[in-house]
Amino acid sequence: MQDKFSKIGFILAVAGSAVGLGNAWKFPYLVGQNGGSAFVLLYLFLTFFIGLTIFFGEVAIGKLSESDPVNAFKKLAITNKNGWKFAGFTMLGAIILVSFYTVVIGWIFKYAFMVLTNLPADIETSAAIFTDFVSKDVSSQILFFTITNIICFYIVSKGIKSGIERVNVWLMPSLLVLVIAMLAYSVTMDGFIQSAKFLLVPDFTKITFDSVLTALGLAFFTLSLGVGVIIVYSANLPNNTNLVSSSIIIVIINVIMGILIGLVIFTFVFEFGAEPSQGVGLVFISLPTLFAKLGAFGHIFAFALFTALIFAGITSAISMLEPFTYYLIREFGFTRKKALVSIAAFVYIAGILCIFSNIEGVKENLVFFGKSLFDCLDYLVSNIIMPIGGITVSVFVGFVIKKEALRELYGPYMSKFMFDLWYFMIRYIAPIAIAVISVNAILS
Ligand code: TRP
Repeated sequence: MQDKFSKIGFILAVAGSAVGLGNAWKFPYLVGQNGGSAFVLLYLFLTFFIGLTIFFGEVAIGKLSESDPVNAFKKLAITNKNGWKFAGFTMLGAIILVSFYTVVIGWIFKYAFMVLTNLPADIETSAAIFTDFVSKDVSSQILFFTITNIICFYIVSKGIKSGIERVNVWLMPSLLVLVIAMLAYSVTMDGFIQSAKFLLVPDFTKITFDSVLTALGLAFFTLSLGVGVIIVYSANLPNNTNLVSSSIIIVIINVIMGILIGLVIFTFVFEFGAEPSQGVGLVFISLPTLFAKLGAFGHIFAFALFTALIFAGITSAISMLEPFTYYLIREFGFTRKKALVSIAAFVYIAGILCIFSNIEGVKENLVFFGKSLFDCLDYLVSNIIMPIGGITVSVFVGFVIKKEALRELYGPYMSKFMFDLWYFMIRYIAPIAIAVISVNAILS
């Protein structure tokens, strides 16, 4: 049975993977912390130069091999096949990622319900609600984490076409409708102009070396690179797809969704005089208090926003499950169900340990290298596994795969100039840029 994406299904599924909590939550607070528009511009530039370069690299590995990540590297390597296959194991990063990512989607679930009846009126109350929830409320966290995982595993158990593709085809347009509806309302508020200025009119004096590195890390994260997701989705691409235009459309959807969600969030921040640079608490602490000022309608608006975040999160979480599932099926002949049950056992234990690593009284036992298990896994994936994944992809595509095979793959869709530029970028610029960000992140 052929279980491949359709062309539009591929675009929506990859865009669904890319558009996630990274765009909806990390992007706004990093923009806030790094001074606004100039950072957005930097992020756009790096997304198109470095991000898209690696993205094309992963698409090439996936499409040329039509395999899971491990066998893809093995199949395409000319010598040292057994050494290269280890590069595919960066897909384990996606499984670690999904373990704590679904904890956060669980928090958003809880908030979607909470904001229907309760919007805290001031920052202190709001901060106390969030801190109490994360540091004391084990049972709700486990409940919502479980619900999130049941949904995600169920979707992936239905396979690529009737599970992953079908859900993305519904959720991605719904996400867009929600965001546009919220935007339409935001436009009527005075804060909108300030928000648009903050995000769109660049002030280059705010750019520092650190913001360049942060923007590159964000570009990498929001494009779901380095952990085999793009490889596996591309392995299931229908033939005769225009690889270049599809990839560019995906990257554009990704940045546009980030900016639109950012516009909505900052409209509220400016309208009600909150601080744009407040960091991680933006979505869970500050926004609920801003919605409280809208009265009854605030509840509906807050619910819409958290629902949008759930949609964005779920389409990303399901993509994290697919690489390893696909590997277990193809390498060991597991059925899809059996593969998912094995993965679920790991995700469930790791996720619950992450929840406990924030709980008062227990968390002391779950500290590693001076960080909670939760932060530790986040650090491991974002600062170690993903950069290693990015560098191995660039070196592999740049120096190991035959240039002729790449030219044959991309030739019909790229001009000679564009191909040569991409090839140069993936050999020299991308790996060095990634090495610099990760070394800097590890040292700082
Ligand atoms: N792109 C996702 C987001 O913006 C997060 C993400 C990072 C991801 N790496 C991934 C998703 C790998 C799927 C697979 O939230």
